[in-house]
Formats: sequence, structure tokens, C-alpha cells
Amino acid sequence: MTTPTIRRATPADAEALSRIGAETFSETFGHLYPPQDLATFLETAYAVETSRRDLADPDKAVWLVEAGGAVVGHALAGPCDLPHDEVTTTCGELKRLYILKAFQGGGTGSRLLAETLAWLERDGPRRLWIGVWSENFGAQRLYGRLGFEKVGEYHFIVGETRDREFILRRG
Ligand SMILES: CC(C)(COP(=O)(O)OP(=O)(O)OC[C@H]1O[C@@H](n2cnc3c(N)ncnc32)[C@H](O)[C@@H]1OP(=O)(O)O)[C@@H](O)C(=O)NCCC(=O)NCCS
Repeated sequence: MTTPTIRRATPADAEALSRIGAETFSETFGHLYPPQDLATFLETAYAVETSRRDLADPDKAVWLVEAGGAVVGHALAGPCDLPHDEVTTTCGELKRLYILKAFQGGGTGSRLLAETLAWLERDGPRRLWIGVWSENFGAQRLYGRLGFEKVGEYHFIVGETRDREFILRRG
């Protein structure tokens, strides 16, 4: 298998971003929700219009991971809007980090994470936040190794389902 490449996405990637976003979210978490709730969530969170807005926002950055001409992963970073008392306007957040299962475990996620964290701290060290599902132990291990610690919890709502999410912080 060729090593996947990582590049910053541009406004021309809105459709591709929506597609890989919905595909990776469904593949990772789809089993947790009733199908109708999942469909409604995907239509909003991964709408092409939403991707277009994210890509046009100068305070956000998006990366696409590509292999063999196909998009196989993505990441999104920007200002923090997690519900925690100590979040300020200067805080950054890793909002999404997803690789298709077939391409996981080969170091690509770590490279993608390193790129997003470097971008978030492009002007120097900064307080960073991540929201992660309470039972996503693999991702928690990955973030823990990079200095992120649990400082709170919240509920991530998908339709009628309220997921328990951990709030992680570094710095
Ligand atoms: C998290 C993720 C991006 C890591 O990508 P990757 O290419 O597998 O990562 P790497 O090979 O560089 O590193 C592997 C580390 O990621 C974590 N990891 C591995 N598989 C994972 C999985 N299926 N889900 C979550 N984390 C995983 C582990 O900490 C692992 O380290 P370890 O092998 O020492 O235990 C990828 O596994 C993924 O997309 N998972 C599903 C989506 C997800 O959970 N995203 C995070 C949302 S907050």
C-alpha cells in the first residue's frame, strides 16, 4: 500500500470533505445511533454548505488524506467551542480527526494530528482542547501521549441519543 499523503483542503474540496466526513463518522460511530437519527445528523453536520463554510473560514483549517487518488481521511481545527468554563476566545480545538479503517494503524493518524497541532500552535504554544467519546479508548491513548488530559465532560447530541464525551485539554 502506498503511503497516504496529507494536504490542506481548499474551497474546491467541499464535496469531497462532506463525503469523507459522513463516511468516516458512519464507519466509526454509525452503530451507536438509530438510522434516522444518524441520517439527520449527517445531513446537517456534513452538508456541503457546512463544509464550504468551514473551508472559507480563515480561523479554521481542514486537511485531506489521500491514497491512490481517493480521499481516505480528514481533520478539522479551529477556535474552541467546547462547553467548558475555562475556554476562551484564544483557545484552539482539534474538531475532527478521522481516517478510514482500511488506512488506520499505519502512522497516518499521528502524522495528521501532528500537522493539525502544529497549525493550531503556528503562532506559539496555546491552550488546546479536544472532545472525544468516553469509550474511544484508542483516540484517548493517542491524545494522552501528546499531553492532553481530561478536564471535563459533556453530552454530544445525535438525534435522541446523548453521548458521553470527555473534554481534553493541553496547556
Ligand atoms: C484516531 C485515528 C485518526 C488514528 O489514526 P491511525 O492512522 O490509526 O493512527 P496511528 O497509526 O498514527 O496511531 C495509532 C494510534 O491511534 C489510536 N488508534 C488506533 N486505532 C484506533 C481506532 N480504531 N480508533 C481510535 N483510535 C485508534 C491508538 O492510540 C494508536 O496508538 P497505539 O497503536 O499505540 O495504541 C484513527 O484510528 C481513526 O480515524 N479512528 C476512528 C475515528 C476516531 O476515533 N477519531 C477520533 C475522534 S476524537
